[in-house]
Amino acid sequence: MKTILVTGGLGYIGSHTVVELLQNDFEVIIVDDLSNSERFILDNIEQVAGKRPIFYPFDLKRRELLSQLFDAHQIDGCINFAAFKAVGESQEKPLDYYENNLFSLINILQEFKARNISNFIFSSSCTVYGQADEMPIDEDTPLKTPESSYGKTKQMGEEILKDFATAHKKKVSLLRYFNPIGSHPTALLGELPLGIPNNLVPYVTQTASGIREKLSIWGDDYPTADGTAIRDYIYVVDLAKAHVKALQKLLAVSSETVIDIYNLGTGQGSSVLEVVQSFERANHVAVPYQICERRAGDITIAYANAEKAEKELGWKAATPLEEALRTTWEWQKYLEQRA
Ligand code: NAD
Ligand code: WQD
Repeated sequence: MKTILVTGGLGYIGSHTVVELLQNDFEVIIVDDLSNSERFILDNIEQVAGKRPIFYPFDLKRRELLSQLFDAHQIDGCINFAAFKAVGESQEKPLDYYENNLFSLINILQEFKARNISNFIFSSSCTVYGQADEMPIDEDTPLKTPESSYGKTKQMGEEILKDFATAHKKKVSLLRYFNPIGSHPTALLGELPLGIPNNLVPYVTQTASGIREKLSIWGDDYPTADGTAIRDYIYVVDLAKAHVKALQKLLAVSSETVIDIYNLGTGQGSSVLEVVQSFERANHVAVPYQICERRAGDITIAYANAEKAEKELGWKAATPLEEALRTTWEWQKYLEQRA
C-alpha cells in the first residue's frame, strides 16, 4: 500500500481527492493548517470513505514540523493542493501569496530531495494560459503572463517543479484545472465559501438561497453567442479522479525523470447565462441577476482540449453541468442545516 501526503487535504478539491485515494487503497496523510478549511471535513471524509486519514494541522511553511512528519512516515508521493487561491486578494497581498504558495512548495521539495522521494502532483490552473489566441486550449498552447500574483505563483510553481524534476531525476505531474464546480454526491463535502464569493457558482448558489440579493453578471457585451463570457466548468469529483489516475501513472512508469502536464476540463465551454439557466433547471429555484460592467482582468473565453489526459491517463470528465450544479445546491442545503 502506498502512502501519499496530501497537502490542503481538508480543502475543496483536496477533500474530494482524499476520498478517491482512500477508495483506491492508498494510505493518506493530510497536512492542512485550516486557513481555508474546517475540521469537520475530516469527519465527513471518514464518513464518506469509511476510513480516517492521518491528519496534521500545521502550516507547511514550518519546515521543522514537515521534517518531523517525514521522519515519522514513509511517504511515496505527494499531491500538493495547499495554496492561497483568491485572485483579487493576491493583488492586495502579493507577498503573502508568493510566500505561502512557493515556500510551502519548496519546503516539501527539499524533503523529497533529501529523502530521495519521487512522485509529486501539483495543482496548477488554466490561468497560466491567460486569454489564449485559439480554442480549445491544449497543453502546447503558449502560456501568457497571468494578470494576478496568484496566477504567477502557479506559473512559478510549474517552473520550480520542472527544474526540480530535471536536476534530481524526479517524477512530477502538473495538472491545469479549468473551473472546478460542484460537491460530493453525498452532500458531505463541498466548497466552503468564506465571505462574499468571487467565483460564479458559489455566488449563484448563495443568490438562489437568498444570502445574496442578486447575481451580478460581469458583462454581456463579449463576442460570444449570448454576450456573456465562456468557461469550462469541471465537476470536482471528476477532477479528483484524475488525480488518482495521474498518480497511478507516475507510480507505474519506469523512467526516472517524468514531467507530465495535463489540462483537466470537460472540453465544453458554457456561458455565464447558460450556467445560471442550468442551475435554475437543475434545482427548480430562481437566480435573480443584473447585467453589470465587465470585471477587470476577465478573459472572454477559455475551454480545454483534454484529449491528452484521455489518451494517457484514461480519464475523461463524465458529469454533465446540470448534475454538477444539482450537487452544489444539495451542499448548500447541508451547510444551512448544519449552521
Ligand atoms: P482550498 O482553499 O479549498 O484548499 C486549499 C487548502 O490548503 C485549504 O484547506 C487551506 O487551509 C490549506 N492551506 C493553504 N495554505 C496552507 C499552508 N501553508 N499549510 C497548510 N495548509 C495550507 O482550495 P481548492 O479550491 O481546493 O484548491 C486547491 C488547489 O487547486 C490550490 O492550489 C488552488 O490554487 C488550485 N486551483 C484551484 C482552482 C479553483 O477554482 N478552486 C482552480 C485551479 C487551481
Ligand atoms: C467565471 C465567469 C466571470 C462571478 C477564476 C480564477 C482562475 C481559476 C478559476 C484558480 C467569469 C463571471 C463570476 C460573478 C459573474 N482559479 N462571474 N458574476 O474568473 O474563470 O477563474 O477561478 O486557479 O485562476 O481567476 O472564474 O468563477 O470567478 O468566473 O458574472 O459574481 O463568471 O466574469 O466570466 P474565472 P469565476
